[in-house]
Amino acid sequence: MKVLLINGSPRPAGCTYTALREVADALEAEGIETEFFQIGTDPVRGCIECWKCSKLGRCVFDDDICNEMAERMIAADGIVIGSPVFYAAPAGQLCALLDRVFYAQAPALAYKPAAAIVNCRRGGASAAFDRLNKYFTINHMPVVSSQYWNSVHGRKPEEVLQDREGMQTMRLVGKNMAWLLKNIEAGGVPVPEKEPWQMTDFCRKA
Ligand SMILES: Cc1cc2nc3c(=O)[nH]c(=O)nc-3n(C[C@H](O)[C@H](O)[C@H](O)COP(=O)(O)O)c2cc1C
Repeated sequence: MKVLLINGSPRPAGCTYTALREVADALEAEGIETEFFQIGTDPVRGCIECWKCSKLGRCVFDDDICNEMAERMIAADGIVIGSPVFYAAPAGQLCALLDRVFYAQAPALAYKPAAAIVNCRRGGASAAFDRLNKYFTINHMPVVSSQYWNSVHGRKPEEVLQDREGMQTMRLVGKNMAWLLKNIEAGGVPVPEKEPWQMTDFCRKA
């Protein structure tokens, strides 16, 4: 079993990585394989609402990491998405990628356990955490939680390491993810039968 950890920070070894590393160590201690995916600093596109993904099964644009990230997410048994907090939200480039991945690949990601974790210096953590969880909770994905909303505080990795409660929260994300994955692997019951989507909007129709 493998968990993909996505670092949504442009800094490959910064605070978000430090928090994700703690999650990964806890997973590995439970015998779960881990893989990191760095979104890096190259430009990424936003969704242009062309709807071509519904026919292609992937984003129409192949000039950034979106489709590669989607493939890695699909190949993993569990997903952890980490982000720095920018203006009380996840990093914009990460959301630009996730908008496109989830629009193109929602069925392939459904029922995959997932967790979000965020890092901030001071404030906005729970708003950013909430935003990331929106991707999972619109797509039938079991959300792995911890003892607190999954955040660590600090502007530098060494400050994050001093956030003992935050780091404990990260370890427990890893342990809880391992517990859920092992239970799924052990069997259980199939996922519920799908209902046709009753897609409504809020316009009054005659
Ligand atoms: C554009 C920008 C906006 C930021 N906004 C916030 C914020 O709203 N709240 C906060 O506590 N820190 C804020 N920060 C600090 C970042 O959260 C912090 O530098 C980051 O989480 C460090 O993680 P990293 O090393 O993984 O990139 C901001 C930083 C930048 C660059």
